[in-house]
Amino acid sequence: MAYVNLGNSGVKVSKLCLGTMTFGSGFRGVGSVSQQDANAMVKYALDHGVNFFDTADVYSRGESEQVLGKALKAAGVPREDVIIATKVRGRMGDDVNDAGLSRKHILDSVEKSLKRLQVEYIDLYQIHGWDPSTPLKETMEALNDLVRWGKVRYIGASNLAAWQLAKANAIARKHGWARFITYQGYYSLAGRDIEHEVVPLCLDQRMGVLTWSPLAGGLLTGKYRKGAPKGTRLSGELKGFIPADEKLLDKVLDALETVSKAHKTTLATAALAWLAQRPGVTSVIVGARTQEQLTQNLAAADLELSAKELAALDAASATPLPYPQWMIERQKTYHK
Ligand SMILES: NC(=O)c1ccc[n+]([C@@H]2O[C@H](COP(=O)([O-])OP(=O)(O)OC[C@H]3O[C@@H](n4cnc5c(N)ncnc54)[C@H](OP(=O)(O)O)[C@@H]3O)[C@@H](O)[C@H]2O)c1
Repeated sequence: MAYVNLGNSGVKVSKLCLGTMTFGSGFRGVGSVSQQDANAMVKYALDHGVNFFDTADVYSRGESEQVLGKALKAAGVPREDVIIATKVRGRMGDDVNDAGLSRKHILDSVEKSLKRLQVEYIDLYQIHGWDPSTPLKETMEALNDLVRWGKVRYIGASNLAAWQLAKANAIARKHGWARFITYQGYYSLAGRDIEHEVVPLCLDQRMGVLTWSPLAGGLLTGKYRKGAPKGTRLSGELKGFIPADEKLLDKVLDALETVSKAHKTTLATAALAWLAQRPGVTSVIVGARTQEQLTQNLAAADLELSAKELAALDAASATPLPYPQWMIERQKTYHK
């Protein structure tokens, strides 16, 4: 397992992070990994060099955090040897204030996450998205206070537009507050939109990029080619959650088959290895509903694709540049 700096910080995280959205009693039908199975998966991940774990308060309404906390305790790993990331913003109860990024909700939520995780601090506290009804300054000041009070070590953002991320960090910089050191976003061979605005911003600002749904929820395993297998995530309520162009997906799966055959591995392993090698990507957050899936996915840590293989996968998954990127590319050729 390779270890890399978490954005512009000195903390080292594993190139693969274990996502725990499947832990608990079934967040939006993504799976319901029991405590016993989660213990085994967390232990397996630790044994294979993973030191980075991602969860969120909303995953099974707190259960994922609880299950992860217990699994880390059961594994006997010292608290300081793991990097725990969680998130805040989603609705956690019926009360009007039990959602969003107000100072009130952030300060109340962090205490609950700490309790569920059974820890005294969270390594990376991420906002789970944009809150249009709270002034950004209020959110950034509250997050800074958590860092100063030692409840949180670093802060990160997820699912923001590039301009929102830049604005948030500009406010923090102006006041000398803690800035977001990571961006967590959807990125896979089936969806590379993040490459246009967010990744260049993160490279410019030396922010880390953490990638969610790296297998597009399972589409990149190739198992949906013959129809949705029963009991899988995309045969349920989340069918179509991640938009994927059928024709493009076919091309990508063909290219993945060639690459995975050459390495005698699975499409999933090859797809994750491609992502781990993309410019700007800090850590790929792998998801799994079963131990077998986790084994295949963590094998990506040992798979290095050649420049030719990377280029073949790039070509199969490429889409036309949106504006202004196509104009920016064109202007590079003018006035030389
Ligand atoms: N910030 C955010 O908004 C956000 C959003 C989503 C996820 N996340 C984070 O990212 C993590 C990973 O996301 P994800 O779970 O969506 O990742 P993913 O890798 O795109 O999808 C994982 C799912 O694909 C299937 N799968 C995985 N490996 C497989 C394999 N080797 N063979 C066959 N099927 C396989 C399993 O579902 P089935 O068995 O049901 O098919 C598994 O639950 C989450 O745990 C969470 O920490 C963050």
